[in-house]
Amino acid sequence: MRVTMRKNNSRSLVRKEETKDIGTILIEAGKLTPSELEKIIEFQKRYNLLFGEAAVKLHFLKEEDVTWALAVQFSYPYLKKGENTISKEVIAIHEPFSPQVETIRTIRSEMVLSGVGSKIKTIAVISPDDGEGKTFVSSNLAAVFAQLGSKTMLMDINFRRPRIHEIFNLRNNCGLSSLIIRRADLSQAVQFRLIPSLHIMPSGPKPPNPVELLGWQETRELISSIKNLYDVVIIDTPSFLKSGDALLISNLSDAVIIVVAKGYTKVDSFGQVKKQLDSSGVRIIGSLINETGKKDKKIVNGLSSWQVKRLLRWRGFKRQRWLSS
Ligand SMILES: Nc1ncnc2c1ncn2[C@@H]1O[C@H](COP(=O)(O)OP(=O)(O)OP(=O)(O)O)[C@@H](O)[C@H]1O
Ligand SMILES: [Mg+2]
Repeated sequence: MRVTMRKNNSRSLVRKEETKDIGTILIEAGKLTPSELEKIIEFQKRYNLLFGEAAVKLHFLKEEDVTWALAVQFSYPYLKKGENTISKEVIAIHEPFSPQVETIRTIRSEMVLSGVGSKIKTIAVISPDDGEGKTFVSSNLAAVFAQLGSKTMLMDINFRRPRIHEIFNLRNNCGLSSLIIRRADLSQAVQFRLIPSLHIMPSGPKPPNPVELLGWQETRELISSIKNLYDVVIIDTPSFLKSGDALLISNLSDAVIIVVAKGYTKVDSFGQVKKQLDSSGVRIIGSLINETGKKDKKIVNGLSSWQVKRLLRWRGFKRQRWLSS
């Protein structure tokens, strides 16, 4: 797994924050006393254990306290079990050390290597059909960028089935559509949750004419002025093939990532998407084979991982990543 980042590209994306040691974090949070900390360190040394293992074995801490402290130490805003202000779908926040999130962080690193955060700022997450994981991927990608300290905007431009506000438990009475029609300013349309560097712009009230709205010069100017305020802008989109919205959004963005769902997306569908992207000169910076758990009649059903990858490569999608649930 490649996780290194080129210095020139990543400079603005790395937060240079001092990390406290885990013992101090736990004492400051009132979860350990200094004398317990001493006992843990002694026990740890005697039995050659990791700090967390020693603390749990001595019954001073629960495993989730250790995970929490590690999350704080590495600046990964993280929710404990039972805290449910943000949907469980944002695994980058609920389970920051799970293998799926590891893959999402790898995708983030690869995006940074491709120039995201410097030359490329706005990235639309697209997929041929409904329910293939665009909202899941865009929410988690935005969270991992923000966890790295990048000033990140997650924008919902799915006016047809908007869901970002639900995921982050926000109101959708004001958002992008309100900004476009000048019913609100940026400070009213942007909201926050948990991660200070993650700004979220819900879709706002459903406009009667999404395609028209996306074609307006005002919309183009608005998106380009927003992009100047952020290191990265991740855009959630509606199904590519069901309306003209996603192609317009792709044209308004610096690059796209295409998501295909294993066992669901049709081969022909991603062929059609590729054709449309190519003819409008959209830059594709990656493709993601997503395992949503959803199964249907469609293609990738029954195909092995390498067959799916080969299919995507054959259709011209390079740099695939596999996101298994
Ligand atoms: N990798 C994954 N692991 C677990 N669940 C996933 C994954 N990807 C997607 N899902 C789940 O599948 C469902 C559909 O995903 P999502 O809403 O992200 O699709 P979508 O492409 O945004 O759909 P729409 O086109 O309707 O906006 C959601 O419940 C989501 O949580
Ligand atoms: Mg969606």
